[in-house]
Amino acid sequence: MEHTQWYKDRVFYQIWPRSFKDGNGDGMGDLWGVYEKLDYIKSLGVGGIWFSPLYPSPGVDCGYDISDYMDIAPEYGGMEAFEKVLEGAHARDIKVIMDLVVNHTSSQHEWFQKSRRRIEPYTDYYIWRPARPGGGLPNNWDSLFEGKAWQFDELRGEYYLHLFAVEQPDLNMDNPLVREEVKKILRFWLDKGVDGFREDVITFISKTEGLPNDRLMPASRGLLLYNNGPHLLEYLTEFYDGALADYDCMTLAEGPMINVKKALRYIEEKPGKVIDMIIQFECMSADCIATDYIHTPFSLRRLKRAWTKWQKGLAGKAWNMLYLENHDHPRVISRYGSEKYRVLSGKTLAAAYLFQQGTPFVYQGQEIGMTNWYPADPEMYEDVQTRWQYFHKATKRSPEKRLKRLWDASRDSARTPVQWTDGPKAGFTEGEPWFYLNENYKEVNVAAAEADPDSLLHFYRRAIALRQSLPAVRSGSYRAFDAFSGKRCVYAREGEGQRLLVVCAFSEAEQRFRAPAGFDLSAAKLVLQNYSDAPQGKLRPYECRVYLWA
Ligand code: NOJ
Repeated sequence: MEHTQWYKDRVFYQIWPRSFKDGNGDGMGDLWGVYEKLDYIKSLGVGGIWFSPLYPSPGVDCGYDISDYMDIAPEYGGMEAFEKVLEGAHARDIKVIMDLVVNHTSSQHEWFQKSRRRIEPYTDYYIWRPARPGGGLPNNWDSLFEGKAWQFDELRGEYYLHLFAVEQPDLNMDNPLVREEVKKILRFWLDKGVDGFREDVITFISKTEGLPNDRLMPASRGLLLYNNGPHLLEYLTEFYDGALADYDCMTLAEGPMINVKKALRYIEEKPGKVIDMIIQFECMSADCIATDYIHTPFSLRRLKRAWTKWQKGLAGKAWNMLYLENHDHPRVISRYGSEKYRVLSGKTLAAAYLFQQGTPFVYQGQEIGMTNWYPADPEMYEDVQTRWQYFHKATKRSPEKRLKRLWDASRDSARTPVQWTDGPKAGFTEGEPWFYLNENYKEVNVAAAEADPDSLLHFYRRAIALRQSLPAVRSGSYRAFDAFSGKRCVYAREGEGQRLLVVCAFSEAEQRFRAPAGFDLSAAKLVLQNYSDAPQGKLRPYECRVYLWA
């Protein structure tokens, strides 16, 4: 089947279902809530939805621990509600992609329960190892969420590998039967009519043979021995040839720590391409080192370097995926922008990424400028990784310092319910919300943003519509200026008879600005801006402007 690459002309919206909109009053977001909001999603100019996992799950990792891949969780409305949403989305020309989480399952999955009991054919579905002589762990790898990556199972009398939570055992992808299961899952959803997949930590599925000790520990924690492993390309090819090739679908692979060169192995547009786009993490590392928990001051230079590296690195070869937020990172205005200049900086951030080459993703709440959450009590955090960081890691630090770290780094900041109104429970639910609301919902909410023509929400709509109307954004070249400036981001997109200059200020102080040589602003049309005028020679706090020559 021909792959028409429809994703190149669309903007996606990510839904993290628990916190999007509750439709049945039980306090948890669900598909009835999504159904109610399809017109809102469409109104953003969006042409695709990525659903974080909707499958049955014990919820240890909010759905990324799946106990049944072929169903929809009852709390989200079950298959019936999903089919309705899928139909409603398609009727609005919105594609739907699912989260494919096959590096691991839930420990409650039937496969794992049978594997523990050595019931065939499931015995080797997971990565089991006996204790080392003397009772030691099979190797020295760390879990990314909590402690060591091995858990002893009494029933089987062996350790199993879990790169994430204890309740998320890693599948043994070297077992051909497990790969068959993956292909079955892909076909099941594609046959149902979904349009593709976001593939969770898919670069982790092939572990180095023999599972050797990591000699670089503690720096790499085993990562180099399971990320981009020896059979990754082979397995992705098998998934492609054995399922994906038969459908006009798209795939988006999550690639922690991936660089351009490695990404091209999977996404380069030539025969043998097995993935359409990669979620790279470099653009999420402008205020931290490797993980959000090693926080550093925000560096615009670092952010621009990452953007330019990917824009240039994939030019003419592959397609970028663009994002500023998802459910795994704190809110971007609090990180890269300014809460004081919430709306202005939100607009500057939007302009800075939306006009790059690639397919942009907008995460729920990003479009209204939701910001981080600052609970006073660490017990209020829900996320398994966050709780480990506070309660078990670096406990020698003062509680104040540890709490501050969560404020900077916790994923829960992006997981508070979407703020729809300034009414009870922010209009998210008629019941008791499953999680805390950000206290700023009286000011920051969709209804208020709808009513204000200058809101970030309306800016997103304008920016997306503009982007979709400009061929240069889809296929023009990318040129970055002022690379050494830590205060502004300036780039041009040129092609198809158009030239676009995007100018974004990232400082609270006014700064001087002159257009790059060859860009005569007096001959350009100012097609997007976040102030009502545009005086020459300077940029005001978090000002952004998009100029067009056509
Ligand atoms: C990446 C997902 O985005 C994250 O939310 C999840 O916790 C881990 N993978 C494990 O599935």
